[in-house]
Amino acid sequence: MGEFDGKSVIITGGALGMGGDTAVEFARAGANVMIADINEIAAASTLERMAAAGTEGLFIHADVSQDAACQRVVREAAGAFGGVDVLFNNVGIQPADSYANVEGTSEELWDRIIGVNLKSRFLMAKYSIPEMRKRGGGVIINNASVQGQQSMPGVPAYAASKGGDLSLTRQMSLDYAAENIRVVAICPGTIDTEMVRAVAREELGSHDEDEVAARVAEYGKDHPLGRVGTGLDIANAVMFLASDRASFMTGTFLNVDGGYMAQGSWAKGAGAEA
Ligand SMILES: NC(=O)c1ccc[n+]([C@@H]2O[C@H](COP(=O)([O-])OP(=O)(O)OC[C@H]3O[C@@H](n4cnc5c(N)ncnc54)[C@H](O)[C@@H]3O)[C@@H](O)[C@H]2O)c1
Repeated sequence: MGEFDGKSVIITGGALGMGGDTAVEFARAGANVMIADINEIAAASTLERMAAAGTEGLFIHADVSQDAACQRVVREAAGAFGGVDVLFNNVGIQPADSYANVEGTSEELWDRIIGVNLKSRFLMAKYSIPEMRKRGGGVIINNASVQGQQSMPGVPAYAASKGGDLSLTRQMSLDYAAENIRVVAICPGTIDTEMVRAVAREELGSHDEDEVAARVAEYGKDHPLGRVGTGLDIANAVMFLASDRASFMTGTFLNVDGGYMAQGSWAKGAGAEA
């Protein structure tokens, strides 16, 4: 018996990265998983990994920043699996060549990032909640970021989207707690995924994957645990939050960040003096 046998799970951006690894772990635990993504090639290999882990999954090609696509994702998942129990609102973009202040950020880029990283949370929740209600409850997990709590130069739209993810999590949890629909968020630190590798490639000006991997590993030095996170680190946290073991958690977030948010900006200096 798997912990999620018979449960119906939707994962946006589930073809690659954290979404892909979480899809595989849910499949290993017996869940029926629908991946909603725009990358068919990556989705095909994730579906293979899911089947090898024990449960066949489904893929739907959908740009989840669009209303009609989100309606279709929920309709297909509910039709195939008999309902919706868990929504992992995971999808996110931060194009590696888009770092700029507000003056350097085009309206088109702003709308695209907010559309994918924040509006998709609203749309997917809007259409999943009626299906969760029919099942007597459910769990929505929004993938925010440590960047929802503190910031860095050059990411106005991403920062706004991630702060919005946390605020929307708090807000929706209040509207749906009485119906046993929990809404929580995770805040990853740096996780070794395609998103981060693209940033490393841009910084290095190189596509040599050994060099890129070495640069990504260097990012780990900023994290007290001394490494970057993995998709499995995220999958473990998401599955805990989706499970009854987290049944008294709603309206809150979990940092999965190797201690990143625990350290003040003075921490390194203090360590150097000691
Ligand atoms: N990687 C990190 O270090 C990090 C840290 C904190 C938060 N996050 C957040 O975690 C989430 C997952 O990031 P990741 O690093 O796994 O990303 P990734 O780039 O590795 O994977 C993202 C997936 O989303 C898909 N996607 C992109 N636009 C889409 C759209 N419009 N509709 C449907 N699918 C779409 C891509 O095809 C891809 O499969 C994002 O919300 C991101 O902001 C990432």
